[in-house]
Amino acid sequence: MSDDDAQHPAGSDIAAGGTSPPGTATLWHGRFATGPAEALSALSDSLPFDRRMFAEDIAASRAHTRMLCDVGLLSVDERDGIVEALAQVEAEIAGGSMAWAPTDEDIHTAVERRATELCAAAAKMHTGRSRNDQVVTDLRLWTRVAIDEVTGSIHGLACTLAERAREAHSADLRLPGYTHLQQAQPVGLAHHLAAHGWALLRDLQRLSEARRRTDVSPLGAGALAGSSLPLDPALTAAELGFGAVFENSLDAVSDRDFVADTLHGLAMTGVHLSRLGEEIVLWSSAEFGFVELDDAFATGSSMMPQKKNPDAAELARAKAGRLVGHLAGFLTTLKGLPLAYNKDLQEDKEPLFDAVDTVRLTVMALDGLLRTVGFNADAMSRGADDPFAAATDVAEWLVANGMPFRDAHALVAALVRDALDGPDPDTRANRLIELVSGHPDLGPSAAQRLVPPGAYRARTTPGSGGPDAVSVQLDRLDAALAAASG
Ligand code: ARG
Repeated sequence: MSDDDAQHPAGSDIAAGGTSPPGTATLWHGRFATGPAEALSALSDSLPFDRRMFAEDIAASRAHTRMLCDVGLLSVDERDGIVEALAQVEAEIAGGSMAWAPTDEDIHTAVERRATELCAAAAKMHTGRSRNDQVVTDLRLWTRVAIDEVTGSIHGLACTLAERAREAHSADLRLPGYTHLQQAQPVGLAHHLAAHGWALLRDLQRLSEARRRTDVSPLGAGALAGSSLPLDPALTAAELGFGAVFENSLDAVSDRDFVADTLHGLAMTGVHLSRLGEEIVLWSSAEFGFVELDDAFATGSSMMPQKKNPDAAELARAKAGRLVGHLAGFLTTLKGLPLAYNKDLQEDKEPLFDAVDTVRLTVMALDGLLRTVGFNADAMSRGADDPFAAATDVAEWLVANGMPFRDAHALVAALVRDALDGPDPDTRANRLIELVSGHPDLGPSAAQRLVPPGAYRARTTPGSGGPDAVSVQLDRLDAALAAASG
């Protein structure tokens, strides 16, 4: 659908005092002498964004119609006529032939208006229902599917990380691990890639918990207090495949926790994607040179012919701002709202839709980037194999031979200082090896720790960055990913 489909005034064309013709057929015009001012419609109409939920609105209207028939409020003929009209409305919207009317405030109004044009009995469709329970039913249905789709993409990215980690592990690739962005200790590249995979797994858990809380039907709560008619909320919940039914009609129409939970899951995912993005930006710089981006996932400069820029990774880094903003903004909208429905709640959709779209797009681009990125083994092992990165291992060699760790740390630190004080920077590493070899408490066996890949292999504790532990970890990551997809 293009934006032109909605015949709504663009902001600049609005006369603040103008009104639509008296008697204009809003759903609620009976009580009013004139139609709404154009400025009000422009501010409050949500059709431009909520028509994205048309399939959900029609599914919920169909379920409500069937329930009304089951409890004796509609005849079978009326029900069948309405269900048929709803199918036609759905086809018109999906096919782009729906004639939207200026009075269509939102998707609910539009669907009901068109269904009633097609079948007079559809005027009974709103029996026992309010847009207050209708809108949140639609949004819960939409969110359920959106979470399934976005978690599918996040899962795919975590699997790509796991696959690239396996490949790096087979090639025995290692890099310097960092703290404070200073080279610290060598770890497998697989260990580093898998670390991002575990973070994404936690995002999947958070979003699946958000989905569980989304999966509650509010339909049947009415405007706020339920109904005097013999509605059966359990029937509509079952038809719509909801896992539970609301307990309190006031809560049902005001609760948007599921939106906030989903926004939190997506903001957290955005934060993880931004950390991954930042590392790709660093690693693709000439200073690191750890990775070479595939041309399809890099951009050039309009002025500097030599440039190859990591735009996808930079945008992954940037999008977190927008995602965190959606969460913070929406929580602020919710804060202090009295029960039950308030129009403020209409502000739930745009941040949610945008957050879902943003994470989906970012994940897709990062996934492609990671599938095609080349790793530069030489540049990474230069740092990983630097004898200074094995200083902790020499201290641990002393500890294994009975020296208290504090003494061992001080002894090795003094040797490191001596080696760094040497006149020629190029011979510092050899000088460290000589100092360790020649020290009475250390000697050639301890110096072996400084010879690559000694330090990398020496780390064997569970969950550590050495190759044996990483083998175990990669099996566990695969198992966790397989369980998360089920
Ligand atoms: N478009 C509205 C929303 O998104 C639908 C509910 C309107 N309800 C009402 N009482 N005006 O929240």
